[in-house]
Amino acid sequence: MHDERQVDGETSLVFDFLKNNANIPQQFIWPDDEKPCPQPPPLLHVPPIDLNGYLSGDPVAVSNATRLVNEACRKHGFFLVVNHGIDMKLINEAHKNMDFFFGKPLVEKEKAKRKVGDYCGYASSFTNRFSRNLPWKETLSFRYSAEFPYSHHIVQNYILNVMGQEYTHFGDVYQKYCEEMSKLSLSVAELLGESIGVGRSYFREFFEENDSIMRLNYYPICQKPDLTLGTGPHCDPTSLTILHQDDVGGLEVFVDEKWHSIPTNTNAFVVNIGDTFMVMSNGTYKSCLHRAIVNCRRTRKSLAFFLCPKQDKIVSPPKELITKNLPRKFPDFTWPLFLEFTQKHYRADRNTLDAFVQWLLHKTS
Ligand code: OGA
Ligand code: NI
Repeated sequence: MHDERQVDGETSLVFDFLKNNANIPQQFIWPDDEKPCPQPPPLLHVPPIDLNGYLSGDPVAVSNATRLVNEACRKHGFFLVVNHGIDMKLINEAHKNMDFFFGKPLVEKEKAKRKVGDYCGYASSFTNRFSRNLPWKETLSFRYSAEFPYSHHIVQNYILNVMGQEYTHFGDVYQKYCEEMSKLSLSVAELLGESIGVGRSYFREFFEENDSIMRLNYYPICQKPDLTLGTGPHCDPTSLTILHQDDVGGLEVFVDEKWHSIPTNTNAFVVNIGDTFMVMSNGTYKSCLHRAIVNCRRTRKSLAFFLCPKQDKIVSPPKELITKNLPRKFPDFTWPLFLEFTQKHYRADRNTLDAFVQWLLHKTS
């Protein structure tokens, strides 16, 4: 097996060097059955949900939103949220600040370098613990806690601590962005609760003091985009993902045994169900396999807010979702254990939840 450090000779030039190079290192070349489709895959129909309409309580808007969400989540777990009320200026600022950060030299970005076993910090394939099937991307991740008093400054403090004064504005932008995403995800949680028949407040209350993860995904251009992947196939282990992608395109979802692409729409957030929410819905709502491809023309950016339960919450479906016809599908757990599993024992892929359940049962038997 190759050591990932072999491609890391010119440390400060890594992706800057790679993005213009037609000889992409072996570590980034994915096996044939995982490579991007030779032709652009068909578009997935992802219904746009009018969130403001839903929240207004207008009966027609409510019934449309709940029906569309129910259908989409039973089938594949992806939908779009429009009329979401998030200020476009904030979204643009969040994208602009990704260019600011990822445009810095590697030594600077590595001030925030992610430590082994941790989920916060800067990571590229060169700070990764794996040496095969490397993703063609750089990421910066941080924790957001909606629990008072952390909620008001957790992101700002983290950024200031690791990156220094020069990043004050940068920290402020993502602090605000996370606060808005936390609120938006609680509205989406209401909609999901109503659509699945447990009422509006059940999931909202469950996630009120969420302990979530924000991740900035930065996909440099690649001279051989047909050989590699920006993000390999995986299901998000988290509860819900609220993603804003720019207009470049590249997000793909595996539905009906084939890959589909998710059309870009900068006015919308892509919402997808993660494994933890699938468990809470007793398997009714699907956490679906997805990936991201790269291209040789434009750098792509996405902002992913992963809603996660507060650490001590037991992940378990409400009793209404357990019936004789639909018995319990998954054991109880708490989110930190699942997070630890994906950080220390297993790289998220198509089987993460099954592997975790096996590990859990083995551990407690
Ligand atoms: C993720 C993810 C896809 C994208 O961050 O989990 O699936 O389009 N990202 O960036
Ligand atoms: Ni994902």
